[in-house]
Amino acid sequence: MNYHPRVRRSMQLYDRALEIIPGATQLISRRPQRFAFGVSPVYIEHAQGARFTDVDGNQYIDWASGILTIILGYCDPIVDAAVKKQIDLGSVYSLNHEIELELAELLIDRIPCAEMVRFAKGGGDACAVAVRIARGNTNKDKILFCGYHGWHDWYQAANLTTTGTPPLDEHLFAGIEPIGIPQALANTAIPFPYGDLDRLEQTLIANRGEVAAIIMEPFRTSMPTEGYLAEVKKLAHAHDALLIFDEVSTGFRPADTGVQTILGVKPDMAVFAKSISNGYAMGAIVGSRESMAGAAEMFISSTYWSETLGIRAAITTLEEIRNRNTVDHIHHVGKTMASKLIELGRQHDLPLTIAGLDYNPIIQFDFEQTTCHKLNTIYIQEMAKLGIHTGLGLAINGSHGAEEIAETIAAAAQVFARLANGLADDALDQLIECELKTDSFRRLVK
Ligand SMILES: Cc1ncc(COP(=O)(O)O)c(C=O)c1O
Repeated sequence: MNYHPRVRRSMQLYDRALEIIPGATQLISRRPQRFAFGVSPVYIEHAQGARFTDVDGNQYIDWASGILTIILGYCDPIVDAAVKKQIDLGSVYSLNHEIELELAELLIDRIPCAEMVRFAKGGGDACAVAVRIARGNTNKDKILFCGYHGWHDWYQAANLTTTGTPPLDEHLFAGIEPIGIPQALANTAIPFPYGDLDRLEQTLIANRGEVAAIIMEPFRTSMPTEGYLAEVKKLAHAHDALLIFDEVSTGFRPADTGVQTILGVKPDMAVFAKSISNGYAMGAIVGSRESMAGAAEMFISSTYWSETLGIRAAITTLEEIRNRNTVDHIHHVGKTMASKLIELGRQHDLPLTIAGLDYNPIIQFDFEQTTCHKLNTIYIQEMAKLGIHTGLGLAINGSHGAEEIAETIAAAAQVFARLANGLADDALDQLIECELKTDSFRRLVK
């Protein structure tokens, strides 16, 4: 395999992993093809604040923030001290621990729709629990969804269609084959396009009396239009279905309460994971008493859901986000990065748009698709060589500060100059040292 000498050990480990770990990584988003394959690092040795060191000894500023898990910074001293203290008290027990109530009460206090709470250890896990509760509560099977909700059968069943474009292509992960998903689940998870109330209503009507819940990411890269989510809720209730917000990716970056206070819409249930605990395994399902209470009668049970390290990390993270005003900080860093990148684009005559929201700005080069693929690839590759681990989007955390901004913008200035020269000389191809990045996922799962 061809690779840059700078990531020699990373690529050796990757080759070793391919032999013994199917797909080599546990999370698709950690596959090396997600970045500049053969140039970007694949294995990290340690991380601190907003930075990490890879297994080849290269140091990076990390704008991926542990795939959105890290909201305060890696190894946050206060969260880690609380977790270490908890380790000394025991991580799991033969019985329950009061800390479960402490986190449940904190979530009830913070999140508008929360009157009851269950725990999980990850986002997909939490979505599966919410879907089970909704099905159990309504005695109906079908789930309408919008967005990405994890690896579980209930969701991947959406791609068991035999005609047309696989539905999940439109919902973040394109090109997924529903291998291993029981055919019997076909037509139980049905997608709807974000923002289109007519299509949602038609789908509800076409499945009248069968829809247990609508689960959706309340937003991802732009805010919903005024009134959209309130209408979704009305439609759900008109069809006796529950509305579930999947707040796993938005998390606590838009606001330290989750997104419901910003949107002014209370779903029946909501799920959280990732940023809730700054890098410790944790997930939560919250909701109204009416929608959640029935879960007591359902078999929803797992040994590690009451593991206390994730719970302690979540309590401390939620407190610290508020104490430090992390949300404002993240938004400020995002806005600053966006304006500096736009300015750099102007200086280098490289037209670009910043999409996304303040807390996750996304660079979009304003060129036709083939050129964009090349620019994106070279940008990620060259930034990696300059010690900046980034995709086109930035996942900001509380440890990104003035130094990280300055170093990243200085690197981007060099890279933009290279891109501009490559464009002027019609020589972009010669700058590419890794696989061309086209569709993020389609290739990976083939
Ligand atoms: C909105 C959303 N839901 C669910 C998940 C799945 O979470 P996990 O990877 O922790 O299972 C993700 C992960 O990216 C997500 O973004």
